[in-house]
Amino acid sequence: MIQQDDKATIVKLRAKLTAQQKTIDALMNAAEERTTAGISPTELLAHNLNLERVVQQKTESLKKQGEELRQALLNLQLTQARLLQAQKLESVGQLAAGIAHEINTPMQFIGTNMEFLEEASRGMSLITQSLQKILATIPEMMAQELQAILDEADWEYLMQEVPLAIKQSKNGISRVTSIVQAMKEFSHPSSKEKENVVVNKVIETTVLIARNEWKYVANLTTDLAGDLPPVPCHIDELGQVILNLLINAAHAIGEKLGQNPAGDKGEIHISTKVVHSFVEIRIRDTGSGIPVEIRGRIFDPFFTTKGVGRGTGQGLTISHDVITEKHDGTLTFETEEGVGTTFIIHLPLAV
Ligand SMILES: Nc1ncnc2c1ncn2[C@@H]1O[C@H](COP(=O)(O)OP(=O)(O)OP(=O)(O)O)[C@@H](O)[C@H]1O
Ligand SMILES: [Mg+2]
Repeated sequence: MIQQDDKATIVKLRAKLTAQQKTIDALMNAAEERTTAGISPTELLAHNLNLERVVQQKTESLKKQGEELRQALLNLQLTQARLLQAQKLESVGQLAAGIAHEINTPMQFIGTNMEFLEEASRGMSLITQSLQKILATIPEMMAQELQAILDEADWEYLMQEVPLAIKQSKNGISRVTSIVQAMKEFSHPSSKEKENVVVNKVIETTVLIARNEWKYVANLTTDLAGDLPPVPCHIDELGQVILNLLINAAHAIGEKLGQNPAGDKGEIHISTKVVHSFVEIRIRDTGSGIPVEIRGRIFDPFFTTKGVGRGTGQGLTISHDVITEKHDGTLTFETEEGVGTTFIIHLPLAV
């Protein structure tokens, strides 16, 4: 495992550093002895020069090893962070799937009851309409009494509002149901094997799940190719990548909008299509754009421009890893400061 390798490298490098330090100490001692042993100035100069050269070589080698050590430490930290995130996601996923399941059952009977109420309200509406007709044919006294009852119940208002209330409730139920379905799909248990997936579905699910992250700062539109062929992929990891890019887009728009008391919104647009032998996913935002001086670093582990608690600088590193290493694809971007950014994913079609 990488983690074990990194640990072994660190132990090895530490041992080497200690050995080098010992060599330098020994050389320094030798130099001191010679100085005190009364040798000629020319000899002393030659020794000093030699010593300087050796020290310089050793310093360079130390520097190189220090750099290797730093790199190994960074790798170790990243592996640990990835492991931690994977564990966290797994338990959040399990929880989400459990909650989705719990919400599903009451939602089903609320839905069935709504259907029943809709049917009943249609029946009641028929009854009152018939009553209206009957009113004209019955004796005045009875008609007045009946009319008074209908007025008391405010039937006209009810007949207008009850179907509307039922319609809105049914709408709400279908929204909750689709969110619950998306939660179930998003927390799809990770499998070692790739599955053939039409990425549009993963995008739709992620957009729904992350609605709360983008809805306050952006209007989101999609243009997903209807005839997109499936590509082999790890659904849960691709979902994570889309989620990371979506949150980054929302943050960049939020940053550009600043205080925004007028409640202005930016745009996020997601599109898919086939390009040569790839499925291309584009996530475009009208956010702050990426400044030239940091463009080369955004995929670096732990690189972030966000404050504590808002960003850890791992989103793009992990996304890049997932797309390039695990899916043999590419993750690139186009950006213009102050205008916006587009992240582009290419996933190879099945061969
Ligand atoms: N769409 C974007 N627009 C502008 N800048 C971006 C965008 N996406 C990423 N960046 C820049 O790249 C940096 C690194 O992004 P990354 O997703 O790796 O980390 P993060 O968002 O800061 O933290 P994390 O994703 O771990 O919570 C961000 O801090 C930001 O400066
Ligand atoms: Mg991020």
